[in-house]
Amino acid sequence: MNAIRRFATLCAFSAAAFGAAGAQAQQVDAEDAIAYRQSLYKLILWNFGTLSGMARDRIEFDREEFRMRALRVSNFSRQLSEGFGEGTATGAPTDALPDIWTNKADFDTKLADFQREAHKLYTMSASANEEALKAQFSAVAGTCKACHDSYRKD
Ligand code: HEC
Repeated sequence: MNAIRRFATLCAFSAAAFGAAGAQAQQVDAEDAIAYRQSLYKLILWNFGTLSGMARDRIEFDREEFRMRALRVSNFSRQLSEGFGEGTATGAPTDALPDIWTNKADFDTKLADFQREAHKLYTMSASANEEALKAQFSAVAGTCKACHDSYRKD
């Protein structure tokens, strides 16, 4: 019964969202996109934190866990671009700088750097030794910083 009620509410919400006038609908989209990308970054940080702990010897190294979290970070990184579409520079509180959309090619390159290095961390984690994984962790962290320095408010 509860599930049915929730489904009905969702349908009513969707109808309202799609029925809204153009400008309003766009507003909803930007708000959703901003919430979506911020949520992904929170998920990335949650998993990256454990990787960081292991890379800095604050948490005991556990290959299975390292591998699972590296895979999550890699997968989340591939969903980010959907959250940075045209018209999403404003619409909700955001730390994303407008330069992202005037410098899209460079932003996309920085995002691709992150995706590539995060995927490499995951593939390496099958058998690479701890020292190599620590070095690759730093390479991934460097891609976070490179993008934040240019495209995120302090
Ligand atoms: C290609 C650019 C780019 C890369 C790479 C990147 N970030 Fe970000 N990050 C941003 C931008 C832009 C924002 C601001 C998003 C917003 O507020 O709309 C952000 C926001 C965040 C936030 C705050 C989310 C919130 O609102 O609570 C965290 C945490 C974060 N990033 C962590 C990371 C970590 C960790 C990495 C690397 C593992 C990373 N980011 C890589 C651009 C990037």
